[in-house]
Amino acid sequence: PKVHYVDHTGQDTEMDVPVGENVMHGAVYNGIEGIAGECGGALSCATCHCYVDDAWTAKVGGPSSEAEEELLENASSEVKPNSRLSCQIEMTDDLDGLVIHMPESQY
Ligand code: FES
Repeated sequence: PKVHYVDHTGQDTEMDVPVGENVMHGAVYNGIEGIAGECGGALSCATCHCYVDDAWTAKVGGPSSEAEEELLENASSEVKPNSRLSCQIEMTDDLDGLVIHMPESQY
């Protein structure tokens, strides 16, 4: 399934991210700037913060755990209702075409 990574300037990069892989890895492995993922997905850094596109929020849902919700508060960019930690969004066939927006900086 494809993920569209949209940076803060509006540039959209489409990547194939395998089912079962998370959206943070999809960015980091493909060299997409905008997602850092410093802790490697261990839910301890908040540098994988992203905003789920309005068209996808219902499908993706909110934070997957209390731990994600708490850590999100440490994100350096403004936290919005559609904020997620991208390492906690796992790809499924249902999410083909997912659009996420990346903050200008993760620090
Ligand atoms: Fe560190 Fe997601 S990569 S919390």
